[in-house]
Amino acid sequence: MSYVLLTGGAGYIGSHTALALLNAGEKVISFDNYHNSSSESLKRVQQLSGHSLIDIQGDILDSQALAQVFEQYPIKAVIHFAGLKAVGESTAKPLWYYENNVAGTVNLCKLMSKYGVKKLVFSSSATVYGAAEQMPIHESSPRSATNPYGQSKLMIEHILADLHNAEPDWRIAVLRYFNPVGADSSGLIGENPNGIPNNLMPFITQVAVGKRDKLDVFGSDYPTHDGTGVRDFIHVSDLASGHLAALGYLDKAPGIDYFNLGSGQGYSVLDVIKSFSQVNQLDIPYALVKRRPGDVAQCYADPAKATELLQWKTEKTLEDMVRDSWNWQKNNPNGYN
Ligand code: NAD
Ligand code: UFG
Repeated sequence: MSYVLLTGGAGYIGSHTALALLNAGEKVISFDNYHNSSSESLKRVQQLSGHSLIDIQGDILDSQALAQVFEQYPIKAVIHFAGLKAVGESTAKPLWYYENNVAGTVNLCKLMSKYGVKKLVFSSSATVYGAAEQMPIHESSPRSATNPYGQSKLMIEHILADLHNAEPDWRIAVLRYFNPVGADSSGLIGENPNGIPNNLMPFITQVAVGKRDKLDVFGSDYPTHDGTGVRDFIHVSDLASGHLAALGYLDKAPGIDYFNLGSGQGYSVLDVIKSFSQVNQLDIPYALVKRRPGDVAQCYADPAKATELLQWKTEKTLEDMVRDSWNWQKNNPNGYN
């Protein structure tokens, strides 16, 4: 039986997808340099599933190390999570982002081509829609980027389209994630941000656990139902199952295709705070402050294409997301450390 190779498999989304794959009876290899993760997440994935996986520490920029994986194991598909993802950091260190994300993907695809493994699921992002004007966002909406992180995702999308043009036997699913949050309901694996979190949900959970005094709500004068930013939050376990659906789809469908993975439902920052407080019976002190530069008022998906073609849709509610985020944080106040 052949393996599904996950680059970046020890990370937040990779570890939840590894769990879903093992639970579905797949054999899994993770290849991760642990820049933003550790092997502890994968130990817990194995504990939870009762199945083992192959955990390799390596960098996708290291062609030799990566080639060895293709030499050593029969691989049927690759899910490519490995990448740097902090928007602010990408503006300060653009070359690092382009090298890691773009050159790393080129490296991976060269080796996949060489070893005849031409089935790829790629982690793209709603960031490729830039400041979209039409809501909900359809896959055909215009693409643009406002920072090097977004540019790197957009460049990779172009590279994959060119690759498929040149070698039509590739099967590629480009998954554009909206806002992944939550954690496996066991509370054993979850998001483990370094330093001060940039994203809303980990910031809320760190306020709840007492690591931060209060949450700054960036902007209360947006043209939304309560003035705060609206996003399409998706539970990471739903997102994980979207990858299994994409792999199944690629078995039937040659070509390259693009899918929004979101719920289609927008919630505001205040909606999330309210839900978190109610479900977990915790007060979240917050202050309304000015807008964060670069943020859009609202961003939510039209997920109809994924529903139709991948036969996938989100199952978890906002209540599930805030409950599971807190369950992970309270059981692991210092993440995996
Ligand atoms: P993460 O940082 O938890 O996981 C990424 C993993 O890739 C980490 O374990 C990291 O150590 C590894 N990695 C980075 N560079 C590597 C390299 N050169 N070689 C080997 N491993 C490397 O992030 P995540 O939230 O799980 O995101 C996974 C993917 O999804 C990323 O490509 C990210 O850009 C994309 N994405 C994430 C979000 C989000 O909000 N979390 C939204 C849209 C898209
Ligand atoms: N927010 C706050 N306070 C915080 C953090 C966030 O009010 O401390 C607000 C933001 O202003 C925004 C909403 O919460 O209105 C969501 O912000 P996040 O930072 O959690 O998520 P973004 O939508 O800004 O960005 C996420 C990923 C990006 C990705 C983008 C589009 O972090 O990498 O979705 O997919 F590009």
